Amino acid sequence: MKEIKIESILYLFDNIEETSKDVQDLMKRAEEARQKAYAPYSKFMVGAALLLDNGEVINGSNQENASYPSGLCAERTAIYYAGAQFPNAKILKMAIIAGSKIHPTVKPIPPCGACRQAIAEYEVKQEQPIEIYFMGATGKVAKSNSLANLLPLVFDKSVL
Ligand code: THU
Repeated sequence: MKEIKIESILYLFDNIEETSKDVQDLMKRAEEARQKAYAPYSKFMVGAALLLDNGEVINGSNQENASYPSGLCAERTAIYYAGAQFPNAKILKMAIIAGSKIHPTVKPIPPCGACRQAIAEYEVKQEQPIEIYFMGATGKVAKSNSLANLLPLVFDKSVL
């Protein structure tokens, strides 16, 4: 029996002002998207913004449904729109901001497992890492240099 250790590296910024100007702009777009979230059930509002290599910025917010599983997370709303609208563009960066209307969210809130799987598909497809920045409504910002770093042992086309 052999032990295998898997490491993930994250970078933590004290606040959004500590990131580069383009990341601040992207997070601003994610916050604007967050304000448009439709989250009457969870009151948990999430916004995502993607910067594409053609200069486009694609926004998404979570869209809930009275039939709960029919709703969709902000990240997948954004990434599927990007895939549908600009199938040949590469995604360079993704900014995610999440906050609750019920309690303060000051810690970076990472994308859920289903969103990581969806983002992984596009990272594999474009053969180029996607930089991912995520935060709570305020406070520290976490950065991952790639989705692969957030989802070790990814299930992708190589196993099919
Ligand atoms: N949500 C997202 O939009 N992204 C995530 O990565 C996690 C969760 C949404 C789904 C649901 O509308 C609400 O947040 C509470 O789970």
